[in-house]
Amino acid sequence: MTLTGKGRRWVAGGHPWIYKDDIADGKGETGELIPVFDPANQPVGWGLFSTTSRIAIRMVTRSPEQPNREFWKASMEQSLALRTDAGLMDPAGACRLIAGDADGFPGWVVDRYTDVLVVQCTTQGAERMRDFLLEVLKECLPFEPRAILDRSDAAVRKLEDLDPRVAWIEGSSPGLIEVQEGPVRYLVDVEQGHKTGAYLDQSQNHQMAARFAQGQRVLDAFAYDGLFGLHAAVAGAHEVVCMEQSQAACDRILANAKLNGVEDRIRIEKVNCMQAMRDKADAGERFGLVVVDPPAFARNRKESAGAERGYVELGRRAFAMCDPGATLVYASCSYNVRPEEFLDYVRKGARLADRDGWLMSMEGPAADHPQLLSLPETRYLKCAFLRVHAPSIGS
Ligand SMILES: C[S@@+](CC[C@H](N)C(=O)[O-])C[C@H]1O[C@@H](n2cnc3c(N)ncnc32)[C@H](O)[C@@H]1O
Repeated sequence: MTLTGKGRRWVAGGHPWIYKDDIADGKGETGELIPVFDPANQPVGWGLFSTTSRIAIRMVTRSPEQPNREFWKASMEQSLALRTDAGLMDPAGACRLIAGDADGFPGWVVDRYTDVLVVQCTTQGAERMRDFLLEVLKECLPFEPRAILDRSDAAVRKLEDLDPRVAWIEGSSPGLIEVQEGPVRYLVDVEQGHKTGAYLDQSQNHQMAARFAQGQRVLDAFAYDGLFGLHAAVAGAHEVVCMEQSQAACDRILANAKLNGVEDRIRIEKVNCMQAMRDKADAGERFGLVVVDPPAFARNRKESAGAERGYVELGRRAFAMCDPGATLVYASCSYNVRPEEFLDYVRKGARLADRDGWLMSMEGPAADHPQLLSLPETRYLKCAFLRVHAPSIGS
């Protein structure tokens, strides 16, 4: 496959994705590992080809040598070493072992829930290499997987002309899996839950938010399985309100609350959070810790204007429920809303609620969701930790 001059300059800049328009010549098969050349026919490296996506090639190496089994194995060992060093390999816990493109495995994600693996393929290349990569991964793992599920049902597969697929590759369904996250135990539905079963990218932030929970009334809005709320309750919150629209998730919040012996302090509301946040704010409800973790509001750059309205309005309602001294944890998982823009929306929401605040920190995901410097698309999650106060003079 030969690049155009523009394509060569783009790849030289370090980004690992090559767009269709930047290819001058060449053919490839569905998901094939192909050599890439510059316009002067000099080798640029090897990448995985897609016949349908706008991202035609995802580079896996800049070396002229074809990646072999040792190459992939060394890459996996590096990924596993990061998780081990970050303290994320507790056998009773869960973490992302391979984070797709960020780990150098385009479109190939592997999550671990105790000793159950969940694999997700979102590109033709990942689909084609699935079984080979799994075989290599099993050689590198410090444990024998009890079962392996292929949870390849993400909507992005459509761009690669791939049908959704959920199937056990090895072993059989273990039902709900009980997982440990710090002091909290929770149940994961790997077959039907969101993503591969849990929002593992927030694991660190669940625990960090709990530091501000003791003795507080806590709101966990867009709660999913209630992890922010559960951590808060276990850390000593006197009351936690979890709001979520999915019935299955609400059922798991209740089961999780019982599992941790905090069901008497967790109230579960199956509601539309957009409406419920307005009602609560208008009714003058107050909380000492508010967590707001909505789904992505902007799936592409065109949706950014709508996203601004959504984040500002949600922020206004969240700030209104915080008296001075309260903590607000506000997350955005929209890659298309950049951190500075998100902070600007948070500021506008505070202003509308007649509040100000300190940004204590802007967190990202845990280390098992590494953010590749050369691939800004891997930096999607922003989690602002704010201490709310009354408006400053002149703000
Ligand atoms: C990003 S996830 C939350 C993850 C969760 N905080 C965690 O850390 O595990 C967003 C959640 O919001 C829920 N959701 C989406 N729109 C909603 C709405 N309008 N009202 C209530 N829940 C909603 C989804 O079902 C999903 O569980």
